[in-house]
Amino acid sequence: MRKKVTVVGAGNVGANCALRIADQELADVVLVDVVDGVPQGKGLDILESGPIQGYDVRITGSNGYEETANSDIVIITAGFPRKPGMSRDDLLLANYEIVKNATEQAARYSPNAILILVTNPLDAMCWAAWKVSGFSRNRVIGMAGVLDTARYRTFIAEALNVSVENITAMVLGGHGDTMVPLVRYTNVSGIPLTELLPAGQIEALVTRTRNGGAEIVKYLKTGSAYYAPSAAAVEMAASILKDKKKVLPCAALLQGEYGVQDLFVGVPVKLGANGIEKVYEVGLTDSEKAELAKSVAAVDELVTVIKSKM
Ligand code: NAI
Ligand code: 2OP
Repeated sequence: MRKKVTVVGAGNVGANCALRIADQELADVVLVDVVDGVPQGKGLDILESGPIQGYDVRITGSNGYEETANSDIVIITAGFPRKPGMSRDDLLLANYEIVKNATEQAARYSPNAILILVTNPLDAMCWAAWKVSGFSRNRVIGMAGVLDTARYRTFIAEALNVSVENITAMVLGGHGDTMVPLVRYTNVSGIPLTELLPAGQIEALVTRTRNGGAEIVKYLKTGSAYYAPSAAAVEMAASILKDKKKVLPCAALLQGEYGVQDLFVGVPVKLGANGIEKVYEVGLTDSEKAELAKSVAAVDELVTVIKSKM
């Protein structure tokens, strides 16, 4: 039987997720948005690309959730994006209400689905979706680390003039300015990055990665990135739909791992048919632990605000 993916939010990230899913013929897609006509129009437009691109998936658009019933995966992108000068955290309460509503509805119609959260502030929205859905922790996953790592890998490949495919890297922590790109675990076809670039240059790449989202916002002025974010969310969905068991950095609910309890934080996980099938706990130096603790504290602060509104 065909797989089914619901994408909530038919804006920049959501529509591009739908397009990428169709292009890769991963599943039928239902696009949901509150704006009348937008999910229907974009859905039809993507459907009509099928004869040219050669895909045979069904794409429908809706302002409700009935059509989403029995989805295998629900990708939640609904919410406001960042504007220049605005932090991801400014989005907290507005997007909490949106994610709460989307999660309630999606979970009601697809009680066995796996949720992939995209809406910012990402780690806090994952926590809200986990609480509201009542889903087990393997079925609520946040997209951030794949994107942050892709940016880091892009900058490293550019600096070394080598293929991006050769860069293996990991970014831990929350999706914010406190994220922790792990230089010690970064290599180029097995060669440690520290042997290829001087420390100062690596530090500059790490800083650029931390500011990668803001760099795009500054260019676009009226919104935030969506091509790389949609590619990242769909890489995660594909690993689940095809049970590929890719090891990817994702926001996962930690229950003791890395000394963290009941918070979503970016860590390496195995993604397969059951969602998060394993959380990998990697060894960290004292300074890496301190950076991660700072990042976890930033996530905790936001979750505390949400808890006070529940
Ligand atoms: P966008 O403004 O293009 O699209 C958002 C869509 O959500 C709009 O079409 C809007 O009508 C819809 N929407 C609003 N309330 C809704 C509701 N209650 N139900 C259904 N749909 C609703 O924004 P964009 O660029 O697609 O970004 C979406 C979210 O993803 C933002 O919060 C942004 O910050 C976040 N984001 C997160 C990334 C990450 O790494 N986790 C990367 C890129 C974006
Ligand atoms: C990004 O990193 C806005 O979180 C989004 O591009």
